[in-house]
Amino acid sequence: MRKDISRIIIAIDGHSSCGKSTLAKDLSRMLQLTYIDTGAMYRAVTLFALRNNLIVNGVVDVPALQSRIGEISIELIKNPITAKVETHLNDENVENEIRTLEVSSHVSAVSTFAFVRKRLVELQQQMGERGGIVMDGRDIGTVVFPNADLKLFMTASPEIRAKRRFDEMIQKGEEVTFDEILENVKTRDHIDSTRTESPLKKADDALVLDNSHITPQQQLDWIMARLKEQGWI
Ligand code: DC
Repeated sequence: MRKDISRIIIAIDGHSSCGKSTLAKDLSRMLQLTYIDTGAMYRAVTLFALRNNLIVNGVVDVPALQSRIGEISIELIKNPITAKVETHLNDENVENEIRTLEVSSHVSAVSTFAFVRKRLVELQQQMGERGGIVMDGRDIGTVVFPNADLKLFMTASPEIRAKRRFDEMIQKGEEVTFDEILENVKTRDHIDSTRTESPLKKADDALVLDNSHITPQQQLDWIMARLKEQGWI
C-alpha cells in the first residue's frame, strides 16, 4: 500500500552551507510539503540578541538572553507573491537581516545554549506535528523528530561549501572575502559538532549524501528514487 506523502516527515541534517536548504526547498516544491528552515530560527534569536546588545564583543550575555527569551516570537511565513518562506521576528520580516555575516558569525554560539534549543525544538515539533514537512537543521533526525520517515545527512568539503556561500553573498552585494567565509564555515563546523547540547551528528538510520560533486538536480533525483523505493511516491 502506498504511504501518505502528505503526512511525511523528512529530516535533513548536515554541515553549514552544504545545500540542505536547496534540497529541502526543491523537495517541498515537488511534493507539496511545507519547508521549515530551523537554522533561520536560530538566526532570528541571534539577530534579537545583537539588536538588544545581548552580545558584546562576541560574548553572549547569557542571563540577559535567558530572561528575555520569552519576548521572542518567530514565524515562518510563505510570501504569497514569491511563494518563498520568510522568517518573521516579532512580526517583522527579517529574512535578509538574518543572512548577514554578522549573524552567521554569532549564531553557532547562540545555538549552544540549552534554553535556546529547548524553546526552538518545542516550536519546531509543534510546526511539524501533523507531518507534511521537510525540515532542515543539525538535530532534526536525532532530537526534533527522531522518528522521522526519511532522514538525510548531507555534507560537502569545506572549500566547496565556502565557495557556494561566497558566490551567494557576492551576488547579494555583501562585501566579504572568500577566506573569511571559509573561516566562518570551519568555525561553525567545529562549534556545531563539538557542543554538548545536541551536537551535529548523523542519526544511525540517516542516508548520507555528499554533494561535493553532484548538481542540485542530481541530488533531487537521488532522493526521489529513495522515496519511490520506500513506497512514498
Ligand atoms: O542552517 P544555518 O547555517 O542557517 O544554521 C545556522 C546555525 O544555527 C548553525 O551554525 C547551527 C545552528 N543550528 C542548530 O544548532 N540547530 C539547528 N537545527 C539548525 C541550526
